[in-house]
Amino acid sequence: MNRRLISSLITLWLLLGLMAGSTVGWVTPAWGDAVDQAVVDESTQLWQGSAHALNDVNCSSCHQNDAADSATKTFVAHPDQESCRSCHEQAVDTFLLGKHGIRLREGETPLTPALARLPMKAEAHDLQMTCATCHDAHAVNTVQAAVDSCLTCHNDSHSLNYENSRHAELFAADRTLPRPSGSSVSCATCHLPRHELKKGDSSITLVNNNNTYTLLPRDRMVKEVCMNCHGVEYSYNSIFDDDLVEANFDQPPSLSLETFDLVRTLEEKRTDSGSE
Ligand code: HEC
Ligand code: HEC
Ligand code: HEC
Ligand code: HEC
Ligand code: HEC
Ligand code: HEC
Repeated sequence: MNRRLISSLITLWLLLGLMAGSTVGWVTPAWGDAVDQAVVDESTQLWQGSAHALNDVNCSSCHQNDAADSATKTFVAHPDQESCRSCHEQAVDTFLLGKHGIRLREGETPLTPALARLPMKAEAHDLQMTCATCHDAHAVNTVQAAVDSCLTCHNDSHSLNYENSRHAELFAADRTLPRPSGSSVSCATCHLPRHELKKGDSSITLVNNNNTYTLLPRDRMVKEVCMNCHGVEYSYNSIFDDDLVEANFDQPPSLSLETFDLVRTLEEKRTDSGSE
């Protein structure tokens, strides 16, 4: 078969897929021999229970390039983050600014634990960091993405200690919800914080996928995250206690910075991090 023929078969298949809507059958030659039918079936099954299936976001919404007219659209087996952009621009833009995504922004290969300075799980050595790593591309499950996914890679004591915290208890209590609840605390609550985006008269809640944002300066997390639930002194006294950070906040803060001490500590930390 020549290329032309293959590409028109794929176009036909995509059109059929679009017409069939959310019940699209993918037993087609488009995947070629390279893709196991079992993988197609599994992907379909995961997708069926997802927010995407509910919102008519179909296989073809991601598995074709963004050529303007349907005649020149081609099939893509492994879509990258650009396939998400038309619907989730903020998520893509913020992901590419943080440590997790910046290599992709610079045109390099995806970040893997093999490249890390921090301790990582040995079995995750070659796992590539893309949009489809934390929430599976087809299930797009955000509860699993908020803690379990992080711990498939991260292996430092702060990360491992999370499960001993009151925050983890709160998170475990509402795992049955479709989305992490705003009243519990996952890894993502602190490291991929939610923010409001104004849209006309209303606003929507989006996740900031830049995992570096709340780390610098260190007290940014106080205002952006902790103070949604705790007082200002409690929050500063926790964030500036290195042992408590390492223990992932497994007990109330024992530091007790007075207001002026607080300001001074804050300034020192700022100067330290500025001179690094
Ligand atoms: C939200 C976007 C999105 C939707 C919708 C989607 N996929 Fe995918 N799919 C992806 C991404 C991204 C990958 C690549 C994952 C990776 O590289 O780890 C992928 C990979 C795959 C693969 C693996 C290809 C290989 O060579 O291993 C198969 C098969 C697949 N998808 C089938 C489907 C089917 C069938 C549907 C519809 C029922 C579907 N996908 C809907 C984004 C999507
Ligand atoms: C054609 C539009 C479209 C494309 C393309 C698309 N999405 Fe979505 N996505 C939606 C809609 C609609 C929803 C449901 C409403 C919402 O939560 O914003 C959604 C929801 C989600 C959610 C939240 C799921 C939940 O359970 O709340 C995640 C995560 C997600 N998408 C990831 C992705 C990723 C990753 C890609 C690219 C591989 C992608 N999406 C491509 C339209 C799209
Ligand atoms: C595929 C593996 C993988 C997954 C999954 C993953 N990370 Fe990472 N993460 C990394 C690697 C690799 C680095 C870079 C570490 C280094 O350079 O030492 C990193 C860095 C970080 C950093 C430091 C950022 C900085 O600027 O220094 C934070 C915070 C972080 N990850 C949080 C998370 C959270 C929270 C989750 C889950 C929501 C998560 N990670 C999921 C691999 C992963
Ligand atoms: C480090 C893990 C991780 C990576 C990488 C990641 N996400 Fe997410 N994402 C999450 C978590 C966790 C949530 C839910 C957090 C919450 O609701 O508090 C989420 C929520 C979302 C949502 C629903 C909320 C919103 O902002 O609309 C969308 C859409 C989404 N992600 C898309 C993407 C896209 C697109 C990419 C790649 C550009 C991506 N994500 C990369 C972990 C990740
Ligand atoms: C209550 C908020 C909170 C929770 C929950 C939390 N972290 Fe953190 N995390 C922090 C703070 C604060 C730091 C320290 C920042 C610093 O050292 O400047 C940190 C640091 C990190 C770092 C190290 C960054 C570096 O470059 O040294 C990683 C990686 C990380 N967290 C991953 C995780 C993972 C994975 C989880 C869940 C298993 C998690 N965190 C849960 C607040 C939190
Ligand atoms: C969504 C709300 C919420 C956010 C955001 C939040 N916490 Fe908490 N935190 C709680 C609740 C609820 C408890 C449990 C209080 C109790 O047991 O009395 C708690 C407990 C704690 C404890 C005490 C743990 C113990 O075992 O007694 C510390 C320390 C703590 N949080 C620090 C922080 C810091 C620092 C941040 C920001 C990086 C933060 N929290 C963000 C709700 C939150």
